[in-house]
Amino acid sequence: MLTQEDILRLRADFPILNEKIHGKPLVYLDNAATTQKPVNVVNTIVSHYYNANANIHRGVHFLSQKATEAHEQARQEIADFIGAKNSNEIIFTRGTTEAINLAATSFGEKFCSQGDEIVLSQMEHHSNIVPWQLLAERKKLKINVIPISEQGELDLNYLKNILNEKTKIVAVAHVSNVLGTINNVKKIVEIAHERCIPVLLDGAQAIPHISLNVSGLDADFYVFSAHKIYGPTGIGILFGKEKFLEQMPPYQGGGEMISKVTFEKTTYSGLPFKFEAGTPDFIGSTAFAAALKYVQTIGIEQIEQYENELLKYATEKILEIPEVKIYGNSKEKSAVLSFNVGKIHHYDIGVLLDQQGVAVRTGHHCAQPLMDFYKIAGTVRASFAFYNTFEEIDFFIAALKKAVKMLS
Ligand code: ALA
Repeated sequence: MLTQEDILRLRADFPILNEKIHGKPLVYLDNAATTQKPVNVVNTIVSHYYNANANIHRGVHFLSQKATEAHEQARQEIADFIGAKNSNEIIFTRGTTEAINLAATSFGEKFCSQGDEIVLSQMEHHSNIVPWQLLAERKKLKINVIPISEQGELDLNYLKNILNEKTKIVAVAHVSNVLGTINNVKKIVEIAHERCIPVLLDGAQAIPHISLNVSGLDADFYVFSAHKIYGPTGIGILFGKEKFLEQMPPYQGGGEMISKVTFEKTTYSGLPFKFEAGTPDFIGSTAFAAALKYVQTIGIEQIEQYENELLKYATEKILEIPEVKIYGNSKEKSAVLSFNVGKIHHYDIGVLLDQQGVAVRTGHHCAQPLMDFYKIAGTVRASFAFYNTFEEIDFFIAALKKAVKMLS
């Protein structure tokens, strides 16, 4: 396992962790919202702007070719990282949200018609609900929702029972951004595939924490954002199996996604360009690949193991505080701790933690149906990354105790 010495060495790669907030050392526990960036990612952005900035796929000149190669190399490295068979199956998007919008719009256009059904779950982030609702409104589809237990685990028997010949896709989170639940996505894919129904997995909260192999999982679509895994903001991917992407119509029109344009008829490029209208974020893509390389040098299994220890420690410590209620107690859980303390408002706790330098997220976490299930308005959420230390957790718990005392 990563030792505290390893962690201190790795923390040096993240200059922001030395910031003082309100005169106190920053304790950054909002990693599920976005992760901090290591020096190699920032340096990749800077050096590409300084040395390799030219528009890609459209220049005969040296710089354009250099930038194109870097962008396509990044696509390949992302494909390798997630175990995709072919880099054509990696579509660059602005992030998870755009990737799901793309999938819902384009898949829905091709494969869904009035009366068909889509399966989501109670624990989805709004970004894996609203795009499907827009599609459902447009095409008059029905949305089925997999319920969860009080612990925060999906009811897979329910899933088995509701799938039918009208079900066109199952779209669920790999890991819940609120509960930390690691869903049994292998099983979900198996259940859906028994009935030849494709599965989209929202990997936004899984990708920085657990090892992924989309081919092993046999996922049909998988989406995530670079900024959740130490990469830049504004870029992410849609992985889709070629057999679906080939049949799906373009999502946006513009340059680069065409084969031939006339006013009478336009024909489209092949994969992946059919889905990538306009100038892509070719600087972001190289920084994205740099972030994945950084994670690989540490080892995702090592990260997972260390974060599990952090979560275990934080859970034990927080339960020492009377009236703490943790939301999400699944057996398989990622490094997220959502909680409330008695009747104290989550926002007030967040503000008092911030004043002590501790950054957490409060509110509904873009998962209002999940809040409705627990009959709460929101939670405080501490989410961990490998650069967090046990000492920081002690600091967080002490700060929390102080906040609770002031608010009680
Ligand atoms: N989806 C991100 C979160 O849960 C922003 O915080």
